[in-house]
Amino acid sequence: MTTHIQPNSIVHGDSRAILKHIEPESIACSVWSPPYHVGKEYEVDVTFEEWQSLLRDVITLHYNVLKPGAFLVINIADILCFKDPEMPKIMAENVSRRKVNVTREQILAIQLEHPEYSRYQIAELLGCSEQTIDRRLNGNNIRGGKYDTQTRVKLVGGLLEEMALAAGLYLYDRRVWIKDAAWENSRWHSISYRAVDEFEYLYIFWKPGITRIDKHRLTKEEWTNWGSRAVWMIPSVRANDDHEAKFPLALPQRIIQLFTEPGDIVLDCFLGSGTTAVAAILAGRRYIGIEKEQKYVELAKVACERAVPEQDEVALGNSNGQNHRPPLRQLRLLHERRASSS
Ligand SMILES: C[S@@+](CC[C@H](N)C(=O)[O-])C[C@H]1O[C@@H](n2cnc3c(N)ncnc32)[C@H](O)[C@@H]1O
Repeated sequence: MTTHIQPNSIVHGDSRAILKHIEPESIACSVWSPPYHVGKEYEVDVTFEEWQSLLRDVITLHYNVLKPGAFLVINIADILCFKDPEMPKIMAENVSRRKVNVTREQILAIQLEHPEYSRYQIAELLGCSEQTIDRRLNGNNIRGGKYDTQTRVKLVGGLLEEMALAAGLYLYDRRVWIKDAAWENSRWHSISYRAVDEFEYLYIFWKPGITRIDKHRLTKEEWTNWGSRAVWMIPSVRANDDHEAKFPLALPQRIIQLFTEPGDIVLDCFLGSGTTAVAAILAGRRYIGIEKEQKYVELAKVACERAVPEQDEVALGNSNGQNHRPPLRQLRLLHERRASSS
């Protein structure tokens, strides 16, 4: 007899192996944020092919564990600095930052008159350095050193859609999470036309089956503020000192409130610091979390211990089907109060 993973567990291991031990059709909603292939500590040495293969395997395994009509929600961003050895060197004539008042036209005029002049001779004539002549003629490499591999943007939504479709899951909806602009990750932005990194996606995949639609899960105000909105403005986590890629508690809280009912099982197979499990506990749901790094398993367990809601603070819905939950903001404050007092 196979023993399945019990609800309210955090399992240490690789989700590709652990997902096989979850009871089939038991998960009401799976919400997670995988490694983004951007070189974080927990993804060093993982090639792009290995990264894709991890996502494909995990998505494929979801078909079996999700209840019919349930959702898989993936939070991810495009890869903004995707290395491409085939890409031509990015050149930029950086006119706005020019310190030396020498123009390309002046150099070309000298070259026309004295085709035998070297760059050094032209530099001497114009009273500037040889590098300035080189930059005016050949442009700047605006990202990294001259010999670094160039980077471009890699969209990931299409990859996920294709993987999910092959697994029998359909893209039902997508939302954009506007977080704080990450200026510190975009120091190069001032010498390019590229935007700073300030949004991520939520891709919502559906497993065919009957989906229970209950408009009472949110208040009228919540529907107006975020339930029906495609764009969610949620500040990022400020203190990423214990885990470098936490998502804010409000993110899984909203997903859980929208797509599940009290007592349902919520899955996160890239659990990290345990945010999804905490959100599930606060909302009176059960959870299963999977994480491959032992140190994050410990972190998540501590977070879950602190998150146990008091019965009178988290109502589980009353007999006439009406929800009497405290609003999300109140739950968040309660959780933060507990975390800081321990
Ligand atoms: C983006 S982080 C998730 C952060 C999480 N949402 C939070 O709020 O803390 C991705 C996590 O997936 C874990 N991970 C990477 N590959 C894994 C795998 N194959 N199986 C399980 N966990 C994995 C990493 O150690 C990392 O903690």
